[in-house]
Amino acid sequence: MSIAYFNGEFVNIDERVIPIEERGHQFGDGVYEVVMVYNNTPCLLDEHLKRLANSAKLINLSLPYTLTEIKNIILEAIKRSNLSHAEVYFQVTRGIASRTHLFPDASPSFSLTVKPVREIDEKLYQTGVDTLTTADERWANCHIKSLNLLPNILAKQMAVDHGKYEAILVNNGLITEGTSTNVFVIKRDTIYTTPLTSNILAGITRQAIIKLADEANLKLVEEDFTVDFLKQGDEAFISSTTIELLPIRSVDSVTIGNGTPGVITKQLHNLYIQQYTKGAD
Ligand code: PDD
Repeated sequence: MSIAYFNGEFVNIDERVIPIEERGHQFGDGVYEVVMVYNNTPCLLDEHLKRLANSAKLINLSLPYTLTEIKNIILEAIKRSNLSHAEVYFQVTRGIASRTHLFPDASPSFSLTVKPVREIDEKLYQTGVDTLTTADERWANCHIKSLNLLPNILAKQMAVDHGKYEAILVNNGLITEGTSTNVFVIKRDTIYTTPLTSNILAGITRQAIIKLADEANLKLVEEDFTVDFLKQGDEAFISSTTIELLPIRSVDSVTIGNGTPGVITKQLHNLYIQQYTKGAD
């Protein structure tokens, strides 16, 4: 059963509990995280909590609870939901206050949902997905997991309207990331992924993949690459908490490699499944 939580209370998912003058609602003034639950266990939860704390700090927002308290709320919510395979969304905002651009004198809000996973068509992992590139029109602090996702939403919708799965964002000719994914390309057995700067989100899945590649003695470099380099890749894939690793079949209608998921992509996804989706974090 889907479940929600707002400022100290567990509620039904469709209950109206957010006041109209909530900063998240009016300004998107907050930060968030998405965590997957496999076999009743949240995956990489400590890493997500650490990133939440960092995002909050970067916007001068103090968390209403300690990370241990947040963890306990999440574990309790998962238990109450009775869902063994689920998606947890949680966010912190600057609270409930009469609308003003200044920081209000208010307690921060914490809300959460636990819902069944949005199942991804299994076929996509066999075929790979089509993507397009588009200008990265976001702000200068994309390392903050902020609630403000308008450019991401517009780019994703544009991609889907063009029959593609994901939009890959380009800044000064270089790939930054997808609208809700990190991007990897493989060329002559070397795996490339965009380095961590304020231009991209430090994906938790991205970091797990870097570790898996290292353990498997695969060569991985965190280096910028161009749109052409991506198109000339032998393999490419996108990663996120919700999709894990999803092969890219094409970029702007240019087929990647031979148009089927590559060996290294499949190897890394299998390693990810073994290590992170069995429920033992
Ligand atoms: N998005 N880049 C962006 C812009 C993202 O929004 C996300 C995640 C990622 C991948 O990060 P991670 O591996 O930690 O999930 C990269 C989440 C899933 C979302 O907004 O739904």
